[in-house]
Amino acid sequence: MLHNMDNTPSSPGKSKMEKRTRWQTSLQKLTFWSILSMGVIYFVFFRAPSSFTSDTSRRSLRTYGYGGAAWEKKIRSSAAVTSKNGVSVLVTGAAGFVGSHVSIALKNRGDGALGLDNFNDYYDPSLKRGRQALLAKQGVFIVEGDINDVSLLKKLFEVVPFTHVMHLAAQAGVRYAMENPGSYVHSNIAGFVNLLEVCKSVEPQPAIVWASSSSVYGLNTKVPFSEKDRTDQPASLYAATKKAGEEIAHTYNHIYGLSLTGLRFFTVYGPWGRPDMAYFFFTKDILKGNTIPIFEGANHGTVARDFTYIDDIVKGCLGALDTAEKSTGSGGKKRAPAQLRVFNLGNTSPVPVTDLVSILERLLKVKAKRNVMRMPRNGDVQFTHANISYAKREFGYKPTTNLETGLKNFVRWYLNYYSAGKKADQ
Ligand SMILES: NC(=O)c1ccc[n+]([C@@H]2O[C@H](COP(=O)([O-])OP(=O)(O)OC[C@H]3O[C@@H](n4cnc5c(N)ncnc54)[C@H](O)[C@@H]3O)[C@@H](O)[C@H]2O)c1
Ligand SMILES: *[C@@H]1O[C@H](CO)[C@@H](O)[C@H](O)[C@H]1NC(C)=O
Repeated sequence: MLHNMDNTPSSPGKSKMEKRTRWQTSLQKLTFWSILSMGVIYFVFFRAPSSFTSDTSRRSLRTYGYGGAAWEKKIRSSAAVTSKNGVSVLVTGAAGFVGSHVSIALKNRGDGALGLDNFNDYYDPSLKRGRQALLAKQGVFIVEGDINDVSLLKKLFEVVPFTHVMHLAAQAGVRYAMENPGSYVHSNIAGFVNLLEVCKSVEPQPAIVWASSSSVYGLNTKVPFSEKDRTDQPASLYAATKKAGEEIAHTYNHIYGLSLTGLRFFTVYGPWGRPDMAYFFFTKDILKGNTIPIFEGANHGTVARDFTYIDDIVKGCLGALDTAEKSTGSGGKKRAPAQLRVFNLGNTSPVPVTDLVSILERLLKVKAKRNVMRMPRNGDVQFTHANISYAKREFGYKPTTNLETGLKNFVRWYLNYYSAGKKADQ
């Protein structure tokens, strides 16, 4: 734009220079300055933001087409309650692994469920589209948009007065934080605050259940992990943003009376799972004959995870929703103390990663090429183990699927899904 000044029509040609009057000179100056300032305004408002923000936030700033009678009708029908005492739930991250399973479970028992997801490409978006198609068949519509879009969120609450929000949208994964830290701040902190801002000001305020993570236990060595243990030594930016979420939840509960329940999931796995997780890419690599890296701790210490099957996690999510009390604020003000909870949702039986690989070898009938190596210090912790007695007491949470059974279901889904001509490459 700035180089356009060279051919500004009002610039007189060289041959006419001598005839130039004082008036012409000032006109020329005026033109020069107005074009320069237009250029500056253009740069500041339209160009500069993109040079300061990450790819993810730029992607999320794109405007999604929404609105209109047909769109609102789809939303109302998706959120419609069909059972007595049913609730209507806005599920963020509904095209994700956990969100898609929770949405279907809600719809199946007669609750209303509307999805919201930005379909970002952190992992293969075609998997998200596949889940979306599955949800559509069950009558769950996913609005395509970002949790940072305040006017979209407000609009959704105008169309449906949701009783609950199941907030699962987040930037997940611990290692990716070193590549794209901004995406964690964008979704897990800024996005969460935006969502809570809208929730606190709508009438009536919904109750909110949201996903924290077992990663908040960080470098803790006392096991099993209990909710009252310290959570002030995160080992990754991901964990730090989830911990920040728990503190932010405290604030919104304290000031505005929002009912908030945080769920610390422990390594969730199962059909329609996440391709960035070890059980998923181990399966892909074992089948391809690729070597898989198996981490060990210091002094050949065992790396183990409290793997939790998706159906057990879904039961925990529903239990938390069903026991969530109403928010107490109105008119943007707290009227009485409101519920604030945090629960572990794990399986209570950690399995060494080497055992995970052995189970996969058996199920896939292929021997894995193992490359045992020292765990790099890039966010992973050596061991996780949940104490789930609090969730058991509050809503009878009781995981029933062991790793062997759960992986069998996962492998069956995987072989079926990827033999249908889809690639597991991304
Ligand atoms: N899967 C696990 O083992 C595990 C463990 C602990 C915590 N969690 C948490 O549980 C939740 C669900 O995890 P998941 O495994 O289903 O992950 P996922 O990545 O499959 O699902 C998250 C979904 O949120 C969407 N999303 C991300 N940022 C968004 C934004 N700004 N606006 C709108 N949508 C956005 C993504 O497109 C994705 O579909 C996350 O909060 C995650 O941090 C998961
Ligand atoms: C598990 O947590 C409960 C509190 O919810 C506590 O009373 C109990 O001692 C813990 N169990 C273990 C084995 O740490």
